[in-house]
Amino acid sequence: MVRAVDRDPLWYKDAIIYETHVKAFFDANGDGIGDFGGLVEKLDYLEQLGITCLWLLPFFPSPLRDDGYDVADYRGVHPSYGTLEDFQRLVEEAHRRGIAVLIELVVNHTSDQHSWFQRARRAPPGSPLRDYYVWSDTDQRFAGARIIFTDTERSNWTWDEMAGAYYWHRFFSHQPDVNFDNRLVLEEMLGVLRFWASLGVDGFRLDAVPYLVEREGTNCENLPETHAVIRQLRAALDREFPGRMLLAEANQWPWDVRPYFGDGDECHMAFHFPVMPRIFMSLRLEDAEPIVDILRRTPPIPETCQWGLFLRNHDELTLEMVTEEERDYMVLAYARDAGQRLNLGIRRRLAPLVDNGRRRIELLSSLLFSLPGTPILYYGDEIGMGDDVLRPDRDGVRTPMQWSGGPNAGFSSAPGPSLYSQPITDPVYGHAAVNVAAQLRDPSSLLRWMRNLIRLRKQFQVFGRGTLEFVSSSNPKILAYVRRWGEDTVLCLANVSRQMQPFELDLSAFEGATPVEMLGYTAFPRIAGARYFLTLGGYGFAWFELRGARPPGAGIVAPAR
Ligand code: NOJ
Ligand code: CA
Repeated sequence: MVRAVDRDPLWYKDAIIYETHVKAFFDANGDGIGDFGGLVEKLDYLEQLGITCLWLLPFFPSPLRDDGYDVADYRGVHPSYGTLEDFQRLVEEAHRRGIAVLIELVVNHTSDQHSWFQRARRAPPGSPLRDYYVWSDTDQRFAGARIIFTDTERSNWTWDEMAGAYYWHRFFSHQPDVNFDNRLVLEEMLGVLRFWASLGVDGFRLDAVPYLVEREGTNCENLPETHAVIRQLRAALDREFPGRMLLAEANQWPWDVRPYFGDGDECHMAFHFPVMPRIFMSLRLEDAEPIVDILRRTPPIPETCQWGLFLRNHDELTLEMVTEEERDYMVLAYARDAGQRLNLGIRRRLAPLVDNGRRRIELLSSLLFSLPGTPILYYGDEIGMGDDVLRPDRDGVRTPMQWSGGPNAGFSSAPGPSLYSQPITDPVYGHAAVNVAAQLRDPSSLLRWMRNLIRLRKQFQVFGRGTLEFVSSSNPKILAYVRRWGEDTVLCLANVSRQMQPFELDLSAFEGATPVEMLGYTAFPRIAGARYFLTLGGYGFAWFELRGARPPGAGIVAPAR
């Protein structure tokens, strides 16, 4: 078993993360809801896919009004998913396969059913127990803070009859924000962190981390006081559980996310939110510029830190970190039907977003696996699962994993009506057409392709660790960049247009090197002179190892091998 302490402390830089809901993956006890036992049964599948880190969405006791992000007890598991012992078995079995376990630390808010809130609303105003949350006599404080769930909430304040006061919440009104100005709250969260870390958990995703502290006259996001809280969580983790990882969920511009890495003393990782919609924008505009632009505006991060990259996740495709024009464009391009929209985003999965275009899925995956950062796959996207916008909120992208074409998509043996959610059944994306069993048997399937790409990625640490340099291309439809790490230099190319494209690259910095295409090991003509001509088919991509490329900073060109 790989124990946290035995492995490279920077393990998360080389990781392949897989995000799933316990309830949606596999139902081992046949009650219609996925469980820890089911996850254990499917670990071999994840191992074969090449996954090295399993990210579990919230599985704690909860009224499930925000799918578990409304936590009612931080130190237990929801009885539908099993017991704490079942969770421990999952961690053990995952570790036995070299798979780390990443869980949620919902730091910003609790459910209104949490005993802290129940106690607080009854406690005398001004008392420490009352002050676990943020109270006010008016709903006018912190007016500079935006509303995030614009489709459901009108205010960040809700009146509580029992307390005779308003309480503060950045998300649903049943999710009161905890009060980090109260030292006891930080102590509680540290206790929660220790609790799960002692059970062997390898990493924590800090949910909604920009909103921890509020101050009058600000937008109550990314405040210095919030960063101070994170530093304390990190210091405790480093001291008591070295090698564990913190991942910031800060849906912010790159320059506002940068401080979440601190001086290497806050989070190890942070999602790169803004690059995601721009990947989809580039694809529809047939222009690489939006991707290049946002990455150029992304500041460098400390050596020990890492971006987390994703194409889709359990939420809507958020359009918070784009301009208004870009948002309008994205909605026109990807969500013409109002049912596909939610808050400021688009509630669709990867395959339907690209009209089930296999080449487009492959192209976007090539970016996910080669841009700087750690790739995060959303369950089901590796087989091209679809969504259902007729279901409320984000439920349409949280349907059961499609294991087979059999009853209940092979997800559960329970009678159909008792499933937590019906599998997708439409003719294109339904489980009869899209499922793991069939794709495992089909050598040309998306799943087998994905496995292959992941295997390739894992052979080259350069993808997880290397630097990024854009290469100038004569054709704006071609995205060209070089990743370098130690001896390895890899040239990545992507054609974001539907048509075949010719282009010329300035590869003078790699004069003398031989590009070797990495999927087929085909050597291409040696780089001589500044101009290098290539073509790529519509939505094509290519990765070339530049053999014999001079390491950055070296003056002498090594002879081509
Ligand atoms: C962020 C999570 O990703 C989302 O699913 C959730 O609804 C909000 N935090 C509020 O808890
Ligand atoms: Ca079950």
